[in-house]
Amino acid sequence: MEYTLSIVKPNAVKKNVIGKIFAQFEQHGLRIVALKMVQLSLSRAQDFYCEHAQKPFYNKLCDFMSSGPICVQVLQGVNAIELNRQIMGATDPSQAEAGTIRAMYGDSLDENSVHGSDSPTSAQREIQFFFESEEILVR
Ligand code: CDP
Ligand code: MG
Repeated sequence: MEYTLSIVKPNAVKKNVIGKIFAQFEQHGLRIVALKMVQLSLSRAQDFYCEHAQKPFYNKLCDFMSSGPICVQVLQGVNAIELNRQIMGATDPSQAEAGTIRAMYGDSLDENSVHGSDSPTSAQREIQFFFESEEILVR
């Protein structure tokens, strides 16, 4: 069993498709075991994405991620990290395979509707960034 952090980004919350995105997780056998809605401050967004601090898109990304409410989940499943990356689709929605979340709900390369951890190390860090262990209701 594996755990991964998922975020429904501000553009998808604004479009009212949280439920449609959750349905994709459920259809592919991932369970939501922790869940919250928050709005990140700019400095929290900068901290979350610190691995990208040197990238040209960092400032725009952090502005966007702090621009409105987000919905954060811990997903549980067999091979959850890689499975969620497959369900999400490619970073650029225009390159994402049909039927993936980013193909369906992404608006642009930056506003691509969802975040998902990309490795066990990042999953552990990102889950701890948002949740206390008592908030994760493993079943
Ligand atoms: O989210 P993912 O792991 O697929 O991509 P990333 O390379 O870790 O980039 C993090 C986020 O930065 C992406 O999801 C995009 O929202 C944004 N990004 C961007 O705005 N412009 C790029 N050229 C690359 C990424
Ligand atoms: Mg990434």
